[in-house]
Amino acid sequence: MKALVLIGGFGTRLRPITYTVPKQLIPVAGKPLLYHVFDLLPRDLEEVVLATGYKAEIVDAYVRAHPPPWPVRTVAEREPLGTGGGMKNAGGGMSDPFFLVNSDVVTALDAGDLLALHRSRGGVGTMTLAEVEDTKPYGVAALGANDRIEAFVEKPDPQDAPSHWINAGVAVWSASVLDRIPSGRPVSFEREVVPGLLAQGLYGYRLRRYWEDAGTPDRMLRAQQLLFADGRGGKGLLPHGALGRGPVAAGRGVVASGASFGPNVTLGDGATVEPGAHVENAIVMEGVVVGREAEVRNSLLGPGVRVAPGRRVVGETLGEGAQT
Ligand code: GDD
Ligand code: MG
Repeated sequence: MKALVLIGGFGTRLRPITYTVPKQLIPVAGKPLLYHVFDLLPRDLEEVVLATGYKAEIVDAYVRAHPPPWPVRTVAEREPLGTGGGMKNAGGGMSDPFFLVNSDVVTALDAGDLLALHRSRGGVGTMTLAEVEDTKPYGVAALGANDRIEAFVEKPDPQDAPSHWINAGVAVWSASVLDRIPSGRPVSFEREVVPGLLAQGLYGYRLRRYWEDAGTPDRMLRAQQLLFADGRGGKGLLPHGALGRGPVAAGRGVVASGASFGPNVTLGDGATVEPGAHVENAIVMEGVVVGREAEVRNSLLGPGVRVAPGRRVVGETLGEGAQT
């Protein structure tokens, strides 16, 4: 069995950080988002194919330096082909069936259960579904008997959403779906292809655990809270000499003696939080310096950001090298 991971989006909603760092490599609860996605996949896969595009070289170099438990192959798009186009472009030699995973979702699921359900129902695909209040940013499914998906609408207007069960971004598909994707042009799999597959039997696998799409700053911080609460952020101990309350996932060479923390913080390698500063519910990437008596809350700070002493940074997303 193989898996195809879609990882080519621009991460526009996480700019300016994603101008230099691909969304999937932003650290969440101590490691890049992509590696939390890898954790969802079975350990015995034959191969994992990464359909990359935007900042493909950076993803490729990182994955080579931090190899996951299975062989990984990267297939980069020259032009963004969308989700379906990316699947078509990278899908040569896929197993039948294969796992398809969006690389920005945070959840806990048993991929073995998903596969077993797929095999027992015997349709063309089985899509993991999460129940959410606000369906607007997602693909929404209408469910019939045996959780058969009877309609699927990508990002409908709220009044047109057929349910609160949305495509959670982890699915098992028959390899035949790749033949249904036109080649050589951008294709949205969810808009252009999925509705036409319903007649062949598409089923839902309802998630009963947490789920989040980490595609915006608020949702990425929420994803981080969920991962920490699920014990997926390591031990979460406060850095040496720091005060306050974890979980804090600190990288190598962090200096934070005399600083204080609230819960749910990632500190990248070499980050410095000076004495008297406070950091809470935040992602602080490598090399950041938070000056004395400064305060950082509900924020994402890209690599090398410098926060001046005494400054308050609340609800902000700052790109690489920014000074405030
Ligand atoms: N290779 C490639 N090429 N990958 C892409 C491209 C592309 O042109 N565009 C997006 N991707 C990747 C993204 O990196 C992400 O991992 C995944 O495809 C989904 O793209 P998003 O841009 O994050 O889509 P979304 O969040 O608006 O909607 C999708 O995910 C929702 C769940 O999180 C859809 O699949 C929805 O149906 C779903 O509910
Ligand atoms: Mg997304």
